[in-house]
Amino acid sequence: MPVMPKLFVTGATGQLGQHVIDTLLETVPASAIVAGMRDPAKDEGAANAFRKKGIEVRTADYSRPETLASAFAGVDRLLLISSSENGERKVQHRNVINAAKDAGVGLIAYTSILRADTSPLFLAEEHRDTEAALAEAGVPFVLLRNGWYTEVYTWRLPLAFKHGVLIGAAEDGRISSAARADYASAAATVLAGGDHAGRIYELAGDASFTLAELVAVVAEASGKPMAYQNMTPEEFRSAALQAGAPEIVARILSDTDAGVAKGALFDNGGELARLIGRPTTPFQTTITGFVRNQ
Ligand SMILES: NC(=O)c1ccc[n+]([C@@H]2O[C@H](COP(=O)([O-])OP(=O)(O)OC[C@H]3O[C@@H](n4cnc5c(N)ncnc54)[C@H](OP(=O)(O)O)[C@@H]3O)[C@@H](O)[C@H]2O)c1
Repeated sequence: MPVMPKLFVTGATGQLGQHVIDTLLETVPASAIVAGMRDPAKDEGAANAFRKKGIEVRTADYSRPETLASAFAGVDRLLLISSSENGERKVQHRNVINAAKDAGVGLIAYTSILRADTSPLFLAEEHRDTEAALAEAGVPFVLLRNGWYTEVYTWRLPLAFKHGVLIGAAEDGRISSAARADYASAAATVLAGGDHAGRIYELAGDASFTLAELVAVVAEASGKPMAYQNMTPEEFRSAALQAGAPEIVARILSDTDAGVAKGALFDNGGELARLIGRPTTPFQTTITGFVRNQ
């Protein structure tokens, strides 16, 4: 009987990681999957939920290299889900890559950012560094350059509902977002098999929208009027700070909107749909679903 490759998903407790594991389970036996967690003892509920499904759980803390050396033993393919700790990611991701190399992992798939090599977004800097680290390591790798999750835009809606206005600095820049589950399907597809080493996938939704168009969908779904108000990136950053956003979040919001105005999150290459073998989830579906659940 052929031996099933061992597939490791880091950040398995996160929203993307959980989607990836659920998608993998549709085609791969649970015994082939390893869920990497920062601290299974601290998050026993999540660890036990994986174990109940027959999935092995291992400690893999990006900031504690000593956990990574043993985590990757016997692993054939590794999905490195980018850390949520902005500012720490260069070191964290290099820790993971070095440990995977030492353990003899055969393929690393990394969740990067759309057009990381040329993106003007401040968030792209750590991804560029990780992509360079992968190239330096000499381990076969594949880049999943993810565009925006549509779900990201739901974070701005509670405040927009309060004022009847969504503020931003994206002008009429178009955003080709897709549902988180679409990107998870792409990651699961690449991890589960096929010849992906050396590939760079620019992943984004099939359709695009401006923030004004997003607001129109929100207004229709909620039955409440809402307008889009554009401002300069600096005004938007100040408004986000005034609304209570932490400094880093305000910076990311204003910088990303400024990038959207320059086309940083627009893509019409259709690569995500091709990779997952189906159209991406329309942004209207994700946004309407969120609004109706409020
Ligand atoms: N494309 C987009 O629109 C977009 C939007 C947001 C984020 N992202 C990026 O995509 C990644 C996945 O998205 P998501 O929605 O799944 O984010 P998420 O729900 O915040 O999950 C992040 C995962 O990273 C793990 N993590 C953070 N620091 C770690 C560490 N030191 N060691 C091990 N694991 C660590 C978290 O573990 P714990 O459960 O232990 O915290 C969690 O499992 C994010 O981390 C971020 O880099 C992309």
